[in-house]
Amino acid sequence: MTSVEVFSKEQVAAFYDNISMIAALSGPNVHVGYWENDEDSSPLGEATDRMTDLVIARLGVSPGDRVLDIGCGLGAPAIRLAKAMDVQVTAIATSPALISEARRRAVEAGADGQVVFELGDGEDLAYPSCHFDAVMAIESLVHMNDRPAAFRQIARVLKPGGHLVATDRVEIQAPTDAERAVVEAYRRMSFNAPFLRLNTYVTALLDAGLLPVEYRDITDRTLPHYRHMITQLDQAQGIDAHVRDQGKAMLTALFEAGLPTNMIITAKATASAAAHG
Ligand SMILES: C[S@@+](CC[C@H](N)C(=O)[O-])C[C@H]1O[C@@H](n2cnc3c(N)ncnc32)[C@H](O)[C@@H]1O
Repeated sequence: MTSVEVFSKEQVAAFYDNISMIAALSGPNVHVGYWENDEDSSPLGEATDRMTDLVIARLGVSPGDRVLDIGCGLGAPAIRLAKAMDVQVTAIATSPALISEARRRAVEAGADGQVVFELGDGEDLAYPSCHFDAVMAIESLVHMNDRPAAFRQIARVLKPGGHLVATDRVEIQAPTDAERAVVEAYRRMSFNAPFLRLNTYVTALLDAGLLPVEYRDITDRTLPHYRHMITQLDQAQGIDAHVRDQGKAMLTALFEAGLPTNMIITAKATASAAAHG
């Protein structure tokens, strides 16, 4: 059996500490965009903001609520959430460079009174039990080798009835060898943890006391992202030609395979999760 490469927290943090490369490739939102249909030609920034809005709409928060953003990237989703819903956001990531850049951006956006950026690990949250009204995790669970641990932590810090809204990647069915090669190339280049089978994922949520209330496979709506990434790669400065070509080939293969499977999932903390905390 071939062994699957996994990445340490230090490797993931170092990957994101290269903020100029991250910002050049992604823009302010470090996540895939959402295109409404096959005719939708929205630019990248609009489509990635739309993805943030799909998450925000599912958080079920009211003005003044406390929200935890796990894996905050450059801070754009947390700032957008704070302003849209008038909530207090605590936003964490494991990369020191991201945290200082996100703080700078919050000041620039006039949101520093509403959003606090801190170093923190989603698999080991440093907050009291039943502290947050909602948790959002946009493409950050993808980096966690121990998702069940992250789910247990999220269930602990959520108030009963509070929502976790996450975007993540899963495996719906066993891939062919060719599909596995395509997905693995992507996973290694983006320092993602292995993707869980959907039934394993749902079981881990339930075991943690998080009741899935909505699961949507949004893969088809995210595929244009890979085309946009190819353009971003072409335009980004200082990328080695070989790496650029490898990246473009990998993105083209993802687009053609329609993989990996992207999902948006909403789960509700049960009273028993609070009791475990
Ligand atoms: C793909 S980016 C998403 C950033 C942001 N959510 C967005 O949508 O713009 C992944 C984020 O997860 C963070 N991350 C990776 N591993 C983490 C961990 N164990 N705990 C918390 N954040 C983590 C990275 O530092 C980065 O900010």
